[in-house]
Amino acid sequence: MSYDIQKIRADFPILRRQINGKPLIYFDNGATTQKPQQVIDCISNYYLHQNSNVHRGVHTLSQEATDLFEGAREYVRQFINAEETNEIIFTRGTTESINLLATALKPWIVKGDEILVTAMEHHSNFVPWQQLCEKRGARLKIVPINRNGELDLEFLEKMMNPYTKLLALTHVSNVLGTINPVKKIIKIAKDKGIPVLLDGAQAIAHTKVDVQDLGCDFYAFSGHKAYAPMGIGVLYGKFNWMRRLPPYQFGGEMIDEVTFEKSTFNELPFKYEAGTPNVEGALALETALRYINETGIDAIRQHEDKLLAHAETKLSAIEGVRIIGTAKQKTAALSFVVEGIHPYDVGMLLDKMGVAVRTGHHCAQPLIDFLGLPGTVRASFAMYNTKEEVDLFADALVKVVSMLK
Ligand SMILES: Cc1ncc(COP(=O)(O)O)c(C=O)c1O
Repeated sequence: MSYDIQKIRADFPILRRQINGKPLIYFDNGATTQKPQQVIDCISNYYLHQNSNVHRGVHTLSQEATDLFEGAREYVRQFINAEETNEIIFTRGTTESINLLATALKPWIVKGDEILVTAMEHHSNFVPWQQLCEKRGARLKIVPINRNGELDLEFLEKMMNPYTKLLALTHVSNVLGTINPVKKIIKIAKDKGIPVLLDGAQAIAHTKVDVQDLGCDFYAFSGHKAYAPMGIGVLYGKFNWMRRLPPYQFGGEMIDEVTFEKSTFNELPFKYEAGTPNVEGALALETALRYINETGIDAIRQHEDKLLAHAETKLSAIEGVRIIGTAKQKTAALSFVVEGIHPYDVGMLLDKMGVAVRTGHHCAQPLIDFLGLPGTVRASFAMYNTKEEVDLFADALVKVVSMLK
């Protein structure tokens, strides 16, 4: 079946908006994606027909809501091919997933231990580990990248030693678009007995994720970067890990038995889901993932790869534009700078022409410092973007450059 871009676009009502009198060209998908009508309807249907708290009511609405909520968990399991449904923990997003894990791993990290992260991490996969290391007297080691924005695997391997307790790295870089060769990296780490967390925030909507095939111990992602609403995300954690680790937050739902003296804790995944969860978010996440599946993740990847290649060709032809991140394996995100012009000014003027891009350090300050830049402009693509939009964006950029030079 051919990729029916017009049908896809028709599902996303916001794409019909005008910005400053121009049709919206939304290229800030790395920050958050737009939502199809199906996802919007899912949320309102939940409140129209099922709204009730889950896991605790004997009444019909509560049971229906619980079934839908647990059904969403099972769908997420299938989507990332986890072995067990109880390995899927619902969180607010990638940031909370990683903080949850960093808190749960705290007792396991002792003075002298080492945690490896890469130079291309988002603050979400950097600051929690930096904090943990500071608190426990452990060392945070940073795996460097080369000029193209790729990791050197031999060097990475040399950085691993018997003190290495965790490797936490991004599947896809939000700044450079680099797709890290995570399967290979995980194999190297696993051969040395080192567990691996993948930050999948920028991967989940763009490339097939199969956690069993990858062999990772933990995988974190946010729904809102995959056409679902904000405030819902996932931490996948292997059963044998999560069963042994302590809870993250305390309160309702996560307990087994509570007395004035002592509390015992619930089974997975509920041990990690204290309080009332984001039920409509989980249902909408299922709807969004179904939408991706129906469109086909491979077809989406192919479409976005074509957009990226076209955008790279167009931008390379504009004098003064320098693309940041030229890894062999890239997806959906194109960062660039315009010599002599601040990224913020470029972003502001593009917005006047209807083009939404991201500017700044993209929550990856250490990386931007390492690259010696004031920030970048980032155009990031999603399944609904078109080649014509890339052309209009490139034309707009030519105008911006001529105005600011
Ligand atoms: C690579 C990466 N990791 C983590 C995050 C944090 O995601 P969230 O803000 O949804 O928790 C982002 C968001 O931009 C990201 O790009």
